[in-house]
Amino acid sequence: MGTFKCIGVLTSGGDAPGMNAAIRAVTRAAISKGIQVKGIYRGYKGLVTNEIEDLYSDSVSNIIQRGGTILKTARCAEFMTPEGRQVAYDNMKAHGMEALVVIGGDGSLTGARIFAQEFNVPCIGLPGTIDNDLYGTDTTIGYDTALNTIVDAIDKIRDTAASHERLFFVEVMGRDAGFLALNGAIASGAEAAIIPEYNTEVDQLDELIRRGFRKSKNSSIVLVAESKSKGGALHIAERMKNEYPGYDVRISILGHLQRGGSPTAHDRIIASRMGAAAIDALLEDQRNVMIGIERDEIVYVPFTRAIKKVKPLRPELLEVLRELGI
Ligand code: F6P
Repeated sequence: MGTFKCIGVLTSGGDAPGMNAAIRAVTRAAISKGIQVKGIYRGYKGLVTNEIEDLYSDSVSNIIQRGGTILKTARCAEFMTPEGRQVAYDNMKAHGMEALVVIGGDGSLTGARIFAQEFNVPCIGLPGTIDNDLYGTDTTIGYDTALNTIVDAIDKIRDTAASHERLFFVEVMGRDAGFLALNGAIASGAEAAIIPEYNTEVDQLDELIRRGFRKSKNSSIVLVAESKSKGGALHIAERMKNEYPGYDVRISILGHLQRGGSPTAHDRIIASRMGAAAIDALLEDQRNVMIGIERDEIVYVPFTRAIKKVKPLRPELLEVLRELGI
């Protein structure tokens, strides 16, 4: 069994609803095991610039329901250099921190992996990202809330789409992953989803037209995963306008509203379980693992697997969408 007097916790990368619930869980689980907790502000940046404060049980009161992160977040260029990481390590030692809990997405866990290796610091990761793109966990903190936000937005867009008999392309976040787009499409009863994992663009659009957009339905909604390489909703709507000029096409880019809001019960529960499990993992002498939940069980996933392996998106979901979107 490992013993720790003091650990640090930080949130890094894009904020995700449920990060506060995770900070609360890490803090209170540690305190209940006699471990002191320091909150590091603005992700790795705060470790470099020494923005570090003690966290007590009441520092994390009344935050479980709040979106965003009370510790703030940032993407930090200095931490990507060996010199920056040396300063971070020196600050960590000066504060007496013996381990780190990092809440964030793949970039944040990559930082933790490098830092842990260079300085032999025990680091535990919690998957905090709306993108759901970390391998080894069924879901990530923030994904369920973002999905629900998307569904709420599409329910509203559908009212105007139906009234005007329009074809809407709704762009959602996810970076290079299509979880939000595909499951958002299924949950909102959309007609199609264009996602980076499968080359669905041509198929799905042609199918949509073949089925006769105006014959069976007087409006349609297509979710489009943002994608630097594929161009997102703007690109696809442009193509549509050129190839099928008869359609009244509109674009809606949901943007950062998908990252905000009060976390769902599901996100609060997984964040609480994962946060508590992070402290158990440290005490069990686990090192450099991400806490995941698979089939409702807590699992420890080595950083390299969580980051480097691509989380598969089940192809049968696409079939479900196709079958039900007629
Ligand atoms: O990783 C979370 C995420 O919201 C992605 O879905 C999106 O591509 C990116 O962050 C946007 O980042 P930023 O807020 O820095 O523009």
